[in-house]
Amino acid sequence: PPTGSPTGNRDQAFWGSCADSNTLNIAANAAILRSDFGQVTPENSMKWDALESSRGNFNFAGADTLVNWAVSNGKLIRGHTLVWHSQLPGWVNNINDRNTLTSVIQNHISVVAGRYAGRLYGTFHVSAFGITINFTLFTAWDVVNEIFNEDGSLRSSVFSRVLGESFVTIAFQAARAADPTSVLYINDYNLDSNNAKVQGMVNLVRRVNANSQIIDALGTQMHLSAGGAGGAQAALTALASLGLEVAITELDIVGASANDYTTVLRACLNTPLCVGITSWGVADVNSWRASSNPLLFDNNYRAKAAYTALINAL
Ligand code: G3I
Repeated sequence: PPTGSPTGNRDQAFWGSCADSNTLNIAANAAILRSDFGQVTPENSMKWDALESSRGNFNFAGADTLVNWAVSNGKLIRGHTLVWHSQLPGWVNNINDRNTLTSVIQNHISVVAGRYAGRLYGTFHVSAFGITINFTLFTAWDVVNEIFNEDGSLRSSVFSRVLGESFVTIAFQAARAADPTSVLYINDYNLDSNNAKVQGMVNLVRRVNANSQIIDALGTQMHLSAGGAGGAQAALTALASLGLEVAITELDIVGASANDYTTVLRACLNTPLCVGITSWGVADVNSWRASSNPLLFDNNYRAKAAYTALINAL
């Protein structure tokens, strides 16, 4: 793929997983990531509390571990996440004036997205034609995460209380300035059918993008219940209705039935603007909802029937 990521470009289609040093350090887990997944998302290491626990003091140890692993192993990265009300340090939560919060958001995004922007994991030079193609590592950023209530209205957070909806544009413009080639996502959960929350996201993106493309893409996490994949196609169709790229960013499904997983896969494949799926982990044992057996590999890192069904469907 060329430098930059034109939105909706399936040349970079992927199936990824979240990861971080705690799971990269497990040999069986890392082996599956290398062989079966093409993209990684930092599960926790790029959240605000991990990176900037006090104002202006950045700690990139965990994030750099993930990025360096991706470079060494030729995996794409979806950055996660620049502005989120959760895992947000108290010093940000306590800001109550517009100017301070605006510059704090802008500085955080500039430092974090700027650190990894344009980092390459390969260059391909066609000498006969004098063409150089760069392979960029970062394909996407979740710029804002989980900003909606279930009815599609804006969630109350320090960001919305102090800045109203304008924090969305502030964040995306800062991300664009820091990393002009990544695809910039708005991301949320419970966007699993064509529901009020999906409509709230679509309407907000339409408003924000009224004059120019500020937001590039819409992400649906898809933490599904058993049998909960039936609305996935309708959700993706609605999210893609603006003509922007979409992706499934944190997939896990209670019980991990082959039918649920292949239903989600087909929904993405049937949606031309759906560029990829990221599993929220490799094996159940390391999942945030481990007792629900939601992933493609079991507690002993053995592939489940759902994994085989996906390979056959692909
Ligand atoms: O880092 C501390 C560690 O120092 C401490 O000893 C330990 C004791 O509990 O906690 C560690 O922090 C935990 C962190 O994961 C890192 O392991 C937090 O308690 C724990 O709450 C945190 O959970 C993460 C959760 O986001 C936080 O909201 C999950 O691993 C992660 O899978 C989950 O991911 C989220 C996405 O980012 C957004 N969408 C929903 C998804 C699932 O909740």
